Amino acid sequence: MNKRFLLLLLIYFFSACNPSKKNNQSSIDGYHYSVQKSTLATNGTVVSAHSLASRIGVQIMKEGGNAIDAAIATQLALAVVYPEAGNLGGGGFFVAHLADGRNIAIDFREMAPSAASRDMYIDSTGAARTDLSQNGHLSAGIPGTVAGLFAMMQYAKLPFEKLIQPAIDLAENGFVIGKREASHLNDIRDELFRYNTLTPVFIKNERWQGGDTLIQTDLANTLKRIREKGAPGFYEGETARLIIQEMKRANGIITYNDLKNYKALTREPHTFYYKGYTIIGMPMPSSGGLLLNQMMKMVENRNIGKMGFHSPEATQLMIEVERRAFADRAEYMGDADFYKVPVKALSSDKYLADRMKDYIPGKAGTSTAIKPGDAVPYESAETTHLSILDKDGNAVSVTTTLNNSYGSKTVVGGAGFFLNDEMDDFSIKPGVANMYGAVGGDANAIQPGKRMLSSMAPTIVLKDNVPVIVAGTPGGTTIPTSVFQTLLNIIEFGMTTEEVVNQPKFHHQWQPDEVDLETGFPPAVATQLQKMGYTIKDRTEIGRTEVIRVLPNGKLEGIADRRGEDDAEGW
Ligand code: DON
Repeated sequence: MNKRFLLLLLIYFFSACNPSKKNNQSSIDGYHYSVQKSTLATNGTVVSAHSLASRIGVQIMKEGGNAIDAAIATQLALAVVYPEAGNLGGGGFFVAHLADGRNIAIDFREMAPSAASRDMYIDSTGAARTDLSQNGHLSAGIPGTVAGLFAMMQYAKLPFEKLIQPAIDLAENGFVIGKREASHLNDIRDELFRYNTLTPVFIKNERWQGGDTLIQTDLANTLKRIREKGAPGFYEGETARLIIQEMKRANGIITYNDLKNYKALTREPHTFYYKGYTIIGMPMPSSGGLLLNQMMKMVENRNIGKMGFHSPEATQLMIEVERRAFADRAEYMGDADFYKVPVKALSSDKYLADRMKDYIPGKAGTSTAIKPGDAVPYESAETTHLSILDKDGNAVSVTTTLNNSYGSKTVVGGAGFFLNDEMDDFSIKPGVANMYGAVGGDANAIQPGKRMLSSMAPTIVLKDNVPVIVAGTPGGTTIPTSVFQTLLNIIEFGMTTEEVVNQPKFHHQWQPDEVDLETGFPPAVATQLQKMGYTIKDRTEIGRTEVIRVLPNGKLEGIADRRGEDDAEGW
């Protein structure tokens, strides 16, 4: 049953004689493409935020690459075709299961610059300056993406030059942007003027329209320096010089040594077990793996499957475990290289059972009564996601981000890429919410060289040591709750992958004490939740989940989220 859903075609076809189009060295044509939401493949599948990036990933596998090669090429392509989150100036996390059985996690999260300090965003009146932690030069952490790509290369098969070339071609020759990108660029026009010292290519005189061409010559040159010199092509030499010049033009604090000393780190993945499945996620400095672990384990023995998808009972149970996990996040989680995170305690069966002792079915808990747990007695710490699976059983799940859409909104003059505003993911002042409403304290306070706590949750699920699900999503603090719902929807509610990805979601994060319900969430269930005592808030979109599943017949099913221009390709 070769079910293919060729959904909508939203990109505008430009004539092949576009003057800017030169000899395209890769066979991916930035001027002619369509968006495909679903694929059923045998040899390999890539699901990402952009059709051109997904196609490039599949192309690389066809040319002999494995899932890791495809992930590197897809990510580089996203840095060109998806500027709001695909990036060179941000960071992220890579989780992989290799065909030889190894599970790998690579942390390429941004780092606080050496001149950063705990109170750097608190002014003389004691006020927290979220304007500075969320925009412009001072909001940027030291970028990790390029170091991350080279850390991944040890598991790749093809030469880096081959993996980066399609991205260079798209930057140099241009591509047509979709409606969504055009509207997002129009939305940030004023901010682009405010936070840039040189006019970036993302500002033009007229409003952007879907179908417009975007050519990024500075970015192409930056990519070429990386192709020629490897990671030093970014962290040293000309690109580093351009970043430092940019910092100096507007009071940024990233130094040449900060860049030169940045390292991506290979870490032990956060692994746990749920009803016969092995779930592999990201450890600190992402809270994603541990939160998912806590939430899954708090529902495991409660027959949630029988309650039914979106039933008031199941929804309430999930809200309450989300609340408890996020309370723990605020108290205990941060970069474990700087702060002792009690991971074992927070994920122990006894602790999680105790956390649920005050759960009352049918009655809303409150975040004033339900505080972070006492883990001590148990202790002996705009984003985009891509999911890839190849025919040999290599699975890759990568979430990468600039934080906000288009990050700090500052483009490095002459280098053509946006810098992140990831510093806002630190707790800039105890109790002050970051842009996702998350609060924190000591565990996630700013220190030089520390990595800010993340919610990103790239995830791989194994059955009998073979990958069966690859999943992840952007969405700030809604990331772990979206992945939580994704896994329960498959494992407990037996839904099709398309339903899993596209059904409305909900979210609770302890504080603020409210349940966010995505547009389309059943109103009758919302009313029931209100009757139980929950404060409801409507939200237009939660997550853009990219899921690959291995079906019982061995086919690789990829589903791209309906919420964006996300795209699933396979062969
Ligand atoms: O690391 C984090 O948790 C956030 N910086 C992620 C930001 C994000 O997902 C934005 N996307 N919508």
